[in-house]
Amino acid sequence: MRARDHAAVSITPDLLARFDTTDPAFQQDPYPVLGALREAGPIAWYEPSRQWLVTRHADVHAALRDRRMGRSFTHRYTAAELGRPEPDPRWADFHDHERWSLLSLEPPDHTRIRSLIARAFTPGSITALRPVMEAVAAERLAACRAAGSFDLIADYAQPYSVAVICALLGVPTADTQRLLDWSHAIVRMYELFTPDAQRAAATRAAREFMAYTRGLIADKRRAPDGLLVSRLVQVEEEGARLTEDEIVCTVIVLLNAGHEATVNTMGNGTRGLLHHPDQWARLVTGEVRASTAVEEMIRWDAPLQIFERWVLDEGVEIAGQALAVGDEIAMLFGSANRDPRRFADPDRFDIGRGDATHVGFGGGIHFCVGAPLARLEIEVALGTLVAGCPDLALAAEPRFHDAFAIHGLRELRVRT
Ligand code: HEM
Repeated sequence: MRARDHAAVSITPDLLARFDTTDPAFQQDPYPVLGALREAGPIAWYEPSRQWLVTRHADVHAALRDRRMGRSFTHRYTAAELGRPEPDPRWADFHDHERWSLLSLEPPDHTRIRSLIARAFTPGSITALRPVMEAVAAERLAACRAAGSFDLIADYAQPYSVAVICALLGVPTADTQRLLDWSHAIVRMYELFTPDAQRAAATRAAREFMAYTRGLIADKRRAPDGLLVSRLVQVEEEGARLTEDEIVCTVIVLLNAGHEATVNTMGNGTRGLLHHPDQWARLVTGEVRASTAVEEMIRWDAPLQIFERWVLDEGVEIAGQALAVGDEIAMLFGSANRDPRRFADPDRFDIGRGDATHVGFGGGIHFCVGAPLARLEIEVALGTLVAGCPDLALAAEPRFHDAFAIHGLRELRVRT
């Protein structure tokens, strides 16, 4: 008998029905429903996506570190063995583009590839990028201030964040718009339910992005520049540690992850600050530093709301619920980050909290490799914004995208 048949949960069917990730009201403000689920119980079987929802901080924190669960199962089992459908051939290019992504791998491949890039992302290496960040932020903000009113997402956060990850990897910023378009199409696949038209668009984007990256690799073979893509190409040329397919997937995941969540944190967090002028004032007066505020921006309105794991071994239990091999769990980060068992008065936006124990960057072997980059990048962008526009105000009430997993604003119109 499947483990879920034994589920004794206090999350009622009525409550679960309110967890509708396609409902526009839920997408605009998921926290009332997430809070109700979390307070009703730690785990529940969710039939529409055939996953276990995990709601509380302690259980999400532990699950992220539990090596009996993994981001994929294909290194251990066939789809048939777990009673899962084979990958749909219509989306083959999409699957290919993440075949060697760190986010699809488990050890030993994960360890090998992560160790090849990890050194570029340590706090020490990232500090060297501070002057680039300061220069790009200042230049973008000057243009925004000259306009008087601007979209903080498209005019400030996106060009800034893409420029920084491109500088680290050695990718031309002239390609910014294409990179943004591909990445926006691709992330639709990470929602719980994705219509076929969006799957097709994501697959097309993945195909184009792979071709682009192969071209980039060819450029680096001809003219090495010592930056990250070039260094990976060099490792490939030196021996048997890396293949070109692996470089393609690695570069794509770094480029996409390198701006999506960072931009959404800047958008969600600045919206929070402008909705709470007392908190904005704490930055303007210098009472709270931008580096401290970053953690609360991620905790309070998480840019990534859901991450999954597959149960790979017998004996896994979450909050007393036995899980079977082949079960999938969905960890609700936005819920865990507002768990009153972990954070006092969790719905309050308090930028001085300085509590980095939120699960926003994950944990365990897949802990965000870009966390030091994201932290410094947001600190510099926010610091520049506060110093240059101390009277910043909302020019229109912003709306979030029609999405849940990737939680970010369509635009954030502000005036200086
Ligand atoms: C505020 C911004 C960011 C947030 C909230 C964030 C969050 C996360 C989370 C939650 C994970 C773990 C996923 C899981 O365990 O299933 C992750 C992994 C990852 N992140 Fe980030 N991220 C951010 C910025 C960045 C940046 C700037 C980069 C730059 C390259 C990056 C690159 C990655 C990569 C490559 C992984 C996969 C690591 C692995 O599987 O070993 N992220 N991120």
